[in-house]
Amino acid sequence: MTKVLYPGSFDPIHLGHVDVIEQASRLFGHVVIAILHNPEKHGGVFTVEQRIHLIDGALADGHCAGKYSVKAFPGLAVDAAKAADVDFIVKGLRNSGDFEIEQQMAHTNLAVAGVPTVYLPCSPERSSVSSRFVREIAQYGGDPSSMVPSNVTAALKEIFS
Ligand code: PNS
Repeated sequence: MTKVLYPGSFDPIHLGHVDVIEQASRLFGHVVIAILHNPEKHGGVFTVEQRIHLIDGALADGHCAGKYSVKAFPGLAVDAAKAADVDFIVKGLRNSGDFEIEQQMAHTNLAVAGVPTVYLPCSPERSSVSSRFVREIAQYGGDPSSMVPSNVTAALKEIFS
């Protein structure tokens, strides 16, 4: 079975992430969702533990139940890939801006550590979803529910209301 790493900040998980995780679990078998973070700093809205909890809540009853695991890793994506013993890294692409950034990272990760990357296109209706927009909308009292799973909407309301 192919095992892949899907790295990100996931602060918080949104429906674009869910789309990529579901595609990857169908195509490859097992997806290790890697929350990359700096243990020296607590930036962000949610703690790493809360992000793990929100990911589990978002995916538990979906198409990829039993086909993923969630783990936090400090540092580089390639070190997480090696620690998790995956075959390659998976990244979702929303647009050409993502492609420019991801292509540079993919080339670097292959060159420095021999870890390949595979891209998956996100579904068109998720092409403008981002965790940053979700956080901003929630912080200013807007409704992010069209962009995130329902457990994330509830968690954001609890923090910002
Ligand atoms: O959810 P995000 O913020 O888009 O995730 C970006 C992330 C964490 C996947 C990316 O910044 C990353 O891979 N960071 C780890 C640091 C790293 O490996 N740097 C070398 C890149 S060549």
